[in-house]
Amino acid sequence: MSLRTPEQTTAQAQTGLGTRRHVLDLDDFTNVEIDTVLDVAEGMREVLGRSIKKVPSLRGKVVFTLFYEASTRTRVSFEQAGKLLSADVINISASGSSAEKGESLLNTALTLQAMHADLLIIRHPHAGAPYFLARHLEHTSVVNAGDGRHAHPTQALLDLMTIRRHLGSLKDAKVVIVGDVLHSRVARSNIWGLAAAGARVVLSGPPTLMPRELLQGEHLTGMPPVEVETDLDKAIEDTDVIMALRLQTERQTRGMLPSIREYTRRWLITPERYRRAKPNALLMHPGPLNEGIEISSALAHGVGSGIEEQVSNGVAVRMALLYLLLTGGATEEIIQ
Ligand code: CP
Repeated sequence: MSLRTPEQTTAQAQTGLGTRRHVLDLDDFTNVEIDTVLDVAEGMREVLGRSIKKVPSLRGKVVFTLFYEASTRTRVSFEQAGKLLSADVINISASGSSAEKGESLLNTALTLQAMHADLLIIRHPHAGAPYFLARHLEHTSVVNAGDGRHAHPTQALLDLMTIRRHLGSLKDAKVVIVGDVLHSRVARSNIWGLAAAGARVVLSGPPTLMPRELLQGEHLTGMPPVEVETDLDKAIEDTDVIMALRLQTERQTRGMLPSIREYTRRWLITPERYRRAKPNALLMHPGPLNEGIEISSALAHGVGSGIEEQVSNGVAVRMALLYLLLTGGATEEIIQ
């Protein structure tokens, strides 16, 4: 069976991601590239629905995950994605590796390249770490699995896929992103991806957790224009999608929030607030959830929630990216 339906076998899809070797953020992705990834991910969803999910597409390829920060969804779904495509996937955490003996990030990455890594997936607390590796690795592709508060492109791609599946199209969708925007790499990458796809982005959250430029009525430096509405009830009016963010307490300095109780009163997504959105609006959260603080438990596990679908789509999107980066995406008959 072929990966794509004849309709999907367009000139766009055949170009895959062109000559792109690395995925570091969505700031340099065109709408065509985003559609390509999401179309291939739809094919991967079909594979995930089979009783035998393993396909030989990446047999002989070697993928390393290198995580300097905690993760469940991103690390495990990359591992699962690689294994289902028959790549050899090797996981390394900073704790227990030679990073604990003081080995530099670059020397660790060069060591993995010397072990014939075809692709390295990195999560790091410092913004820019994946870019640094991409500049220095000649034979190994780099995928950013989250760098500081800067970018999380694969989370944004799975979010775009989830929205596109619910609405049919991203164009002109109203997406309200709520909470700790200041520290959120998920918000930043989503802004790039949603803007490229023609969606309308509204940010809402406590002024202390919002970039200062936005509160002063300016654009975020170097980023696409977005709207800001600090009254959450107004922001949610007639929205298609509500995306609640996690409070990034590990990146916040003291005093950014008066109290959790005050945060919850103003920013928790409650059933009452949800009713202000369009009927059947999609509720999203990248996880991990602080239930009852960012989103109510009833909503998180209710009919409007896309949170578990986001996780499932994360596997499909990461399969698509690994496949496109490691094969060029030009081969027609991949999944047999
Ligand atoms: N959304 C996300 O990045 O989750 P993890 O930290 O569990 O990978």
